[in-house]
Amino acid sequence: MNHKQACVYLVGAGPGDPDLLTVKAQRLLRQADVVVYDRLISPAILELIPPGTSRIYVGKAAGRHSMPQEVINELLLNLARKGHQVVRLKGGDPFVFGRGSEEARYLAHHGIHFEVVPGITSAAACSAYAGIPLSHRGLARSVRFVTGHCRADQPLELDWQGMADPQTTLVIYMGLANLAQIRQGLLDAGMAPDTPAAFVENGTTPRQRRILTTLAGLLRDQENHDVQAPALIIIGKVVDFAHELNWFVPADAAEERVHDAQQVG
Ligand SMILES: C[S@@+](CC[C@H](N)C(=O)[O-])C[C@H]1O[C@@H](n2cnc3c(N)ncnc32)[C@H](O)[C@@H]1O
Repeated sequence: MNHKQACVYLVGAGPGDPDLLTVKAQRLLRQADVVVYDRLISPAILELIPPGTSRIYVGKAAGRHSMPQEVINELLLNLARKGHQVVRLKGGDPFVFGRGSEEARYLAHHGIHFEVVPGITSAAACSAYAGIPLSHRGLARSVRFVTGHCRADQPLELDWQGMADPQTTLVIYMGLANLAQIRQGLLDAGMAPDTPAAFVENGTTPRQRRILTTLAGLLRDQENHDVQAPALIIIGKVVDFAHELNWFVPADAAEERVHDAQQVG
């Protein structure tokens, strides 16, 4: 294989734990001339980029806006036209709520060779690390990945009736800002207020927090626990398994426990 053939690889980095990178993603990171990455790429994954490789950050800086999508598209095009092998590293999976399809279409339109490398989307990884199976025989016969994001000042237009199916597990991406609308939409569509629900914040990383609640309790617990992005909201009967299947101890939580134990001792 000619490693220096110009190509843009749209690579999914998974939700944070570097061990969840695919073998292909790791290989491409080692071979790339340039890595273009955004906000959700964890520091542990950035450490895997060789020191001599150029890195271009296109995410949101504190108090500033992200680079507009058109500018990112243009950047990828220009890098490829210079003959570079480019890794466009995106959180989770590039084709799940990540605008990877917009970048791929732009490159295709301009005749640039590209490949898509799937990553583990946060719904799959964060639920697993939170001890929540997305499906379970007899309890959840379907799973829906939903975006809770909409344009400013516009109501969320979701299929509330379909989402309120008691045998469906909902995984809501980018749902914190519109949580009140989501909760009310589901209650109005007849979903039981005591349906188990969870927030998974910073999933799969040393800072992961999972907050177990109910549909009715979502707003109260978001506030009580000061839940911050990136977070997923999982709603459905399967969330109850989180008590039984709590296998992942984030490093930060483990350190806190050791610290507590030392203070007690
Ligand atoms: C722009 S979307 C990108 C989704 C990504 N392409 C994927 O497949 O996971 C960003 C949203 O993904 C979710 N997310 C991504 N990483 C996460 C993490 N480590 N923990 C919890 N939620 C995460 C959050 O809902 C966040 O607001």
